[in-house]
Parts: sequence; structure tokens; C-alpha cells
Amino acid sequence: MSAALQKLSLFTPTKLGALNLAHRVVLAPLTRMRNSPDNVPQPMAVEYYKQRASQGGLLITEATVVSARAQGYPLTPGIFTPEQVAGWRKVTDAVHSKGGLIVSQIWHTGRVGHSAFTGQLAVAPSAIAIADGSKAATMKGQLDQEVPHALTEEEILGVVAEFRHGAKLAREAGFDGVEIHGANGYLIEQFLSPKSNIRTDKYGGSEENRARFLFEVVDAVLQEWPSDRVGIRLSPAGDSCDVFHPTPLETFSAVITRLNQYKLAYIHLIDPRGQAELVPVSNVAKLSDTLARLSTSPVIGASSFERETADAAVASGAFAAIAFGRHFIANPDLPVRYLLGAELNPYDRSTFYGGNEKGYTDYPFLTREQATAGLAKIVGQAEASLPLSDKLAALQDSQQTAVGLIEPALAL
Ligand SMILES: Cc1cc2nc3c(=O)[nH]c(=O)nc-3n(C[C@H](O)[C@H](O)[C@H](O)COP(=O)(O)O)c2cc1C
Repeated sequence: MSAALQKLSLFTPTKLGALNLAHRVVLAPLTRMRNSPDNVPQPMAVEYYKQRASQGGLLITEATVVSARAQGYPLTPGIFTPEQVAGWRKVTDAVHSKGGLIVSQIWHTGRVGHSAFTGQLAVAPSAIAIADGSKAATMKGQLDQEVPHALTEEEILGVVAEFRHGAKLAREAGFDGVEIHGANGYLIEQFLSPKSNIRTDKYGGSEENRARFLFEVVDAVLQEWPSDRVGIRLSPAGDSCDVFHPTPLETFSAVITRLNQYKLAYIHLIDPRGQAELVPVSNVAKLSDTLARLSTSPVIGASSFERETADAAVASGAFAAIAFGRHFIANPDLPVRYLLGAELNPYDRSTFYGGNEKGYTDYPFLTREQATAGLAKIVGQAEASLPLSDKLAALQDSQQTAVGLIEPALAL
């Protein structure tokens, strides 16, 4: 009916394991530091996630600690007590009530933590403090980084069990799956990086040994969840929190090749293109695509994507979906804005971390008038004068998932 309509790969359905997505615009995991001091999501978090839910759309929660000692920033959420499970249950119910999907990003910050949180030193593969000039962010303000406690082999098993417990509670809280946070310089990546891991036992030294902890966590989570509901996030070009990978292509090719055996729902790669200056290889785009194409599980890409670059990344076949961070913070209805090619609200960096509803649940949605005008624009000349129902039919012909997204925007 409508040859004029631009067909976007972002708005075709796909499967990430058992997760059936109607479109590929995913909410990236975003720490917002607005939970209670005992790490329980608050009513405003229910509203925040509900706002961003859409029919067949996937949300990934903010990173969520699996134990008290795993915490590295104030007012982050947890998944290790019954109160936290009850708090998350309200979030998952709200997202499901809109037909959306939500997975829990389970997290241990390792040496990013601080004794100010629990009275105990943070834990790490080796007793090496973060030395990148940063301070530790705690409930008591910015404090000097501490030398963490190097985990014994027995204690490592205990931390692995905490991940398993968090995964179990995520199921009880009604999540559709879990994403293991293996990125951004936190505990799993502290083990992977030879800058933070100088162990001489089976958890240190060779690439394989440094990846042992990661695979033990994956194995533990798979005791609680089928593999087609488990994802893992990796940051191959990362240097966050003072980690470093001297040979990222080798390190992460080996990890991804081994992960292939697990048939996970997805691998979530923070795209090295967003961190081009950090990658010690000449061809960054090659690193990104090579790693994505190595995975036999679907790959979610993230980092500095815009509507057109995201659509091209999905169309290329390398990425199954794209996670959006900053734009999704500022645009609760980001999928429908991308569908319509509508303008985006700008984000306010000053309200990213901590605070109240301001900069959290008060970003405006498209108005009904804006959505109607946007629809008329994209259906083109031929259908512009047709009644709304015909315009929707034209859109449905072109974009299989569009109507489920746009109907709420039109308040139908
Ligand atoms: C405020 C903020 C909080 C973030 N918190 C997390 C987090 O909890 N877990 C995580 O894996 N990444 C986190 N990230 C990284 C984002 O998931 C994403 O990779 C990054 O924002 C780049 O995507 P973008 O360019 O679309 O914003 C955070 C980013 C921002 C801006």
C-alpha cells in the first residue's frame, strides 16, 4: 500500500533466546541512584520503568547488587533481601501490564566498593586499589580509594553463590531473565583485566584463568535460569574503574567463542566505537564487528547510537538489537519517537545520578497531536488525507510492530 514508507530494521520483531521482541529499541542498564538506603526500589522507580515499557520492548534494569558488600555507589538497588524482591515485583508487574519485557542486570562492583558501605573492605581479585585519580562515591561523600581485600579461592565460591542467589531472587521478583554485568570495570572485569588481577592461582595469569570467574558466575546463574533467558554484558574496549585489556581482540574473542557453547539469550557488547580513543588496535570498527559476528547468540550493541546508526547496525546483521542509554533517560517514549522520526528531548546530565522525580519521571512524552502529526508525515502523501485507521493500516503494512507502539502514543 505504501511504497513511500521507510522500512526500518529497528521495527522488525526478533528473538533473543526466549525473549520475543516486537522491536529492537532496548533500554540500556542505567544506574540512577534513587533507591532506599537498604537498596529497595521506590514507587518512583515503578513509574520510571513503566513509562519506558512498550509492547514487546525489552528493558534492562539499572545494575543491581547481589549482596551488601557488592555495593559501590549510594542508593543503588539490590536483589538479595525479601524487601528488594517485593520492590522489584512492583516494577516487573508494571512493565508486564504494558506488554513489555524486563531483565535484571545483576552486579558486583568489587573494588569499586568501600568500607564506608558495610564496615568491611571491598573485595577484588588482587589487593590493588583503583589508581586513576578517582574517588570512591559513598553515602559519606567522596572518599579516597582503598586497597581492597584479595578474595581467597573459598571466598570466590561465596561470591559466585551470591550471583546465583541474586539470579534466583530475580526469578521470584518476576523478571523475564537476567543480564550478568561483566562490563565497566566491575568485579567480573576486574578478574579479566591483568591490570587488576595479578593472582598466581587458577584465577590469574593466563587468559583462560582470568576468565574462570566469569564462567563460574555464568554456570551458577544457569543453575537458576534456562540459558535462553540469560544475557551477559561485556566492554571489550573498556578502561572504566582502572581496568585495561592490552589485547582486547584476543581476550574477548576467546570469551565470546566459549560463551557460544552456552547458547545464551544474548551477548550485550558496549561498542568500542564509542570509546575509539581507548582501543589499542588500529581498526576499531573491525574489533566491534568482529566480536559481534563471532557470537552465535544474538548481540545487543550499545554506546552512542542514534536512530540511523542503530538501524544500520541492525540491518548489517551484526547486531540483533541496540540499547540506548542517555536518549532513553530523556525520552520515555523513545521507541515511538524513533518510529515516527520525531525530535528527541535533550537529556540533563545533572540529574543522571541521585535526586528525585526531576530528570527521572518528568521528561515529556510526545503529545497526541505530535504523534498524529508524526504519523501523517511518515505515511506520506498518498495516505495523508486518509482516516487514522487507514494510516495505521498503511504503517502496519510497512512496520510489523508499529501499531502496538503508536496506539498508546495516539491514546487510542
Ligand atoms: C547515567 C548512566 C548510568 C549508567 N549505568 C549503567 C549500569 O548500571 N550498568 C551498565 O552496564 N551500564 C551503565 N551505563 C552505561 C549505559 O548502559 C550505556 O552503555 C551508555 O550510556 C552508552 O549508551 P548511550 O550512548 O546510548 O547513552 C550507564 C550510563 C549512564 C549515562
